[in-house]
Amino acid sequence: MKSPVKSELLKRLFAAQGEPISGQDIADEFGLSRTAIWKYIKELEEEGYEIGSQRKKGYYLIDAPDLVNQGNITEYLTTERYGRIIKYFTTVPTTQTIAHEDAQNGAQDGTLVIAEEQTAGKGRLARPWTSKANRGIWMSLIIRPDLAPQYAPQLTLVAAVAIVRAIEEVADIQPVIKWPNDILINGKKVTGILTELQSDPDRVKAIILGMGINANQQQSDFPEELQMIATSLRIEKGEMIDRAQLVAAILKYLEQYTDLYVEKGFAPIKILWESYAAITGKNIKASMVHETVEGIALGISHDGMLELQLADGTVRGIYSADIEIKN
Ligand code: BTN
Repeated sequence: MKSPVKSELLKRLFAAQGEPISGQDIADEFGLSRTAIWKYIKELEEEGYEIGSQRKKGYYLIDAPDLVNQGNITEYLTTERYGRIIKYFTTVPTTQTIAHEDAQNGAQDGTLVIAEEQTAGKGRLARPWTSKANRGIWMSLIIRPDLAPQYAPQLTLVAAVAIVRAIEEVADIQPVIKWPNDILINGKKVTGILTELQSDPDRVKAIILGMGINANQQQSDFPEELQMIATSLRIEKGEMIDRAQLVAAILKYLEQYTDLYVEKGFAPIKILWESYAAITGKNIKASMVHETVEGIALGISHDGMLELQLADGTVRGIYSADIEIKN
């Protein structure tokens, strides 16, 4: 992680919007030498920031690399809690494990763990999740809503709605949600969500919302077996996405919708979710651990279960399954 002085330096360079900031002032403030500040500037340049210096005036930001680091995300961040602490990594096995450890060690509500690359990304049902360097958004958010554990799966639906809203806003593309939480564009998966729980018997301690968003991959960036079923925002839109801006928008809607959910319950989220749902009225095959059922999707229940009308006319609530849209 960045040293606090380096983070502060970057924050101020961004805030100054290209105007010079005094290295001497920062050095004085932090009780450091000007050379120490200069070394931080050199480190930032090595990370890809282009920084100019003006005699007597100080350092100014010329350009920032397309990284999902703290400085770039914070530039867009409008939240109160979510993303106010960011742990940024260039490469990790999976952000989920780091977030779990941090949550166990008391990380505060809204702490974000984000990486440019995952070498062992985890999907649902223990599937691998391809996480190519600098192309997608690979992040795990630690949230601590005051909830009983049985309600935790609903947070997955909250997250799906928040991500769709953010994609609409930043990329101007209209994705749909496939129950419970796959986000698709033109029938191909652009985002997956993995919700994991740390809980006492009666209260949630933390929810780790793992989100994988295919942002700037080209077709050839996906392994062959995924090329027919996965897509990216760049492929669909025909231009690159500012990943840091999208992260900030996702955090904004996540905070807004989680607060709404905690305050008002699932009803308002259900309305939003159904407005984005790809499955209502479709013939669905739902594969669960011990059985597979087929039926027409009616929508979701007041607590987030998928409701399927079976051939005999009965309605079956599905809590967790892998689903296939048949038509
Ligand atoms: C799915 O199978 O649809 C869920 C995919 C979740 C992937 C994200 S990427 C960030 C976080 N870290 C992981 O290893 N997995 C989740």
